Amino acid sequence: MPAVEIRPGIYWIGVNDRTTDLFEGLWPITQEGVSYNTYLVDGEQKGLIDLAKGLKTDEFLDQVAQVIDLSELDYIIINHMEPDHTGILRTLRRIAPQAVVLGTRKTREMLEAFYQVTEGVRVVEDGERLSLGSHTLQFFSTPFVHWPETMMTYEVTHRVLFSCDGFGGYGALQGAIFDDRCGDPALYEREALRYYVNIVAVFSRPVLKAIERLKDVPIEVIAPSHGLIWRKDPGRIIELYRKWAGYATGEREMGVTLLYGSMYGNSEQMMNAVAQGVSQAGVPVEIFDVARTHTSYVLPSLWVRQGVIVGAPTYEGGLFPPMAHTLDIAVRKRILNRKAAYFGSYGWSGGARREFARLAESLKWEVVDTFEFHGGPTLEDLRAGEAFGRRFAEALR
Ligand code: FEO
Repeated sequence: MPAVEIRPGIYWIGVNDRTTDLFEGLWPITQEGVSYNTYLVDGEQKGLIDLAKGLKTDEFLDQVAQVIDLSELDYIIINHMEPDHTGILRTLRRIAPQAVVLGTRKTREMLEAFYQVTEGVRVVEDGERLSLGSHTLQFFSTPFVHWPETMMTYEVTHRVLFSCDGFGGYGALQGAIFDDRCGDPALYEREALRYYVNIVAVFSRPVLKAIERLKDVPIEVIAPSHGLIWRKDPGRIIELYRKWAGYATGEREMGVTLLYGSMYGNSEQMMNAVAQGVSQAGVPVEIFDVARTHTSYVLPSLWVRQGVIVGAPTYEGGLFPPMAHTLDIAVRKRILNRKAAYFGSYGWSGGARREFARLAESLKWEVVDTFEFHGGPTLEDLRAGEAFGRRFAEALR
């Protein structure tokens, strides 16, 4: 895609990544893709804000060259050091060695550690302004959104916030780069939530701090480094991020995430009975087969809902391994303080319930009920499962 002028003298330069399968080597994006948005501010002096992963380098450099000659570039502004935003840095420095790299104090340390760059680097302070002639930039320190060195850059004249990971999401751009031109904003909101929970949610407190820090800054455009540019309704993505960050400790949505795994269909049969019970109580339920669904897609539901039911059999004296893995990721992502229940089938000794209890303790989950059955469920077992689901849903209210 060619460079796009988003405000007078401010350009989007973007790399659309549809070939990386795992973001951070971990989170699937094969279907959705991701964009690395860079912004070029073309004043009497010229600055590039954030870069891209080191792929499609020619395309990236050609886009910049559509607007300025790279020999004219004065500044490379690094909001965040993660290599999806800096991978192209060494190449760019070879082509534009005169450009000064700007970032926070921690960015300077990381520049040396990641790329052995020590020369031509200048530290900027929180609140500092930089005039580019017809444009003025201001830097806001926003540590841990997403790494400790992170800052956001604000263009004062046109009120554009270059927020980097903050307010970003998965999803390659499908022609449209603006919220008001996008035919399917729900997709980007869904992918922004998945991105938030996969990447940023552990740092929810810093996210709320950053939003607070920016509360008096008039913002007309949110220009993140991943996903859509929000110019029609920048408040929308800010409010979504505020709401999601609030779920870390505050009130969550009424509903149940029902995680299950099943070896031969016995726990699955019971899962259907339990789900019936939850539905009878009028509580929404979202169901995931954890052996077939990457945790990336499970985490958003766990993050936003108050209730969790875990259904999985005993496997070699412990919890069915894909379920243990999913709950371990939930521990790492600090999905704490939910109301929970467990059910599952066992063949002889049991053991899954014990391992679940241990994991639930790490998660500070309040386990309100558990239910085990031997082998395949009888009709009586299924009726008990239905009642168990109904009781749990009613307890959530
Ligand atoms: Fe988009 Fe934290 O990197």
